[in-house]
Amino acid sequence: MENQCIAVIGAGQMGSGIAQVAAEVGYRVILHDVTPDFVQNGMSRIDKALSAHVQKGKIDEEKKRGILSRIQGTVSYDQARDAHVIVEAVFEDADVKTHIFSTLDGICRPETVFATNTSSIPITRLAASVRRADRFIGIHFFNPPQIMRLVEIIPGLKTSPETVRQARQFVDSLKKESVLVKDVPGFLVNRINAALRLEAYNCLLEGVASVEDIDKALKLALGHPMGPFELADFVGLDIGLSVLKTLHDGYKDPKWRPSLLLEKLVLSGDLGRKTGKGWYDYTSGQKVPRTDVQF
Ligand SMILES: NC(=O)c1ccc[n+]([C@@H]2O[C@H](COP(=O)([O-])OP(=O)(O)OC[C@H]3O[C@@H](n4cnc5c(N)ncnc54)[C@H](O)[C@@H]3O)[C@@H](O)[C@H]2O)c1
Repeated sequence: MENQCIAVIGAGQMGSGIAQVAAEVGYRVILHDVTPDFVQNGMSRIDKALSAHVQKGKIDEEKKRGILSRIQGTVSYDQARDAHVIVEAVFEDADVKTHIFSTLDGICRPETVFATNTSSIPITRLAASVRRADRFIGIHFFNPPQIMRLVEIIPGLKTSPETVRQARQFVDSLKKESVLVKDVPGFLVNRINAALRLEAYNCLLEGVASVEDIDKALKLALGHPMGPFELADFVGLDIGLSVLKTLHDGYKDPKWRPSLLLEKLVLSGDLGRKTGKGWYDYTSGQKVPRTDVQF
């Protein structure tokens, strides 16, 4: 692995986590973003996460330095030239993603595997932007990638069995578990989770129970670590809305129609933990029920 290089495109929440996981198991990692500030934000996030490991005694300072030394931040796509695997984790926007992949298609070696971490865009659609559709695949991590053990492996229509094998091997090398999933809207986990979330929104709108009680009920009765509203705030309401829109567009089934209340929250700029407010209010540093809006 020492000689193997992974390029992660997008140094945000997911990209920085994926870069950290890859560097922890020994890969050399190129971490790319559009500006030096964004790259630096990603590097700082990794530094902070590793410092927390040091404080808990999980790793020592030397190990932390070793992991960080394997990650090279950059704003140049050329740095990804020698990567064995590209993992793209930029904004959930098909045009942005296809532009990046078609650029990298002209830079990377023909055998490099191109993987996308998209939550909702069809893999087959993104694969159509490159000449190597057989080497294109979905490798879908969950948030936070450093902690969540599952990764969905999603072949597109033209992905070769060899690329599937390499993707599984790559995920194994990261000490993660994988499941093989068809390229359908929402893939597997987000599809099932979206159905649960929509039912939670319906219960809220019908006045069956409050946000807090729905979360409490699912945690205590079904053993979920987070309730559907807490989880939606953690993931980001914009991402959750985009997943519902994809399911609705993809299956053409009204059962996936996004909740109007969710759309209103996103329009208002309340996107969950990252903006301080979503289904809950986090502005005090604690998660408390919202008092400024009526759900
Ligand atoms: N957040 C989650 O819970 C989650 C879970 C699984 C998958 N995903 C998927 O992962 C991807 C990233 O999500 P995120 O939450 O990390 O987003 P984010 O907004 O935290 O990070 C996205 C990063 O991509 C960068 N970027 C934008 N355009 C770029 C370009 N042309 N080249 C390089 N970098 C560029 C941005 O500057 C930003 O730093 C999305 O496709 C999302 O659907 C997210």
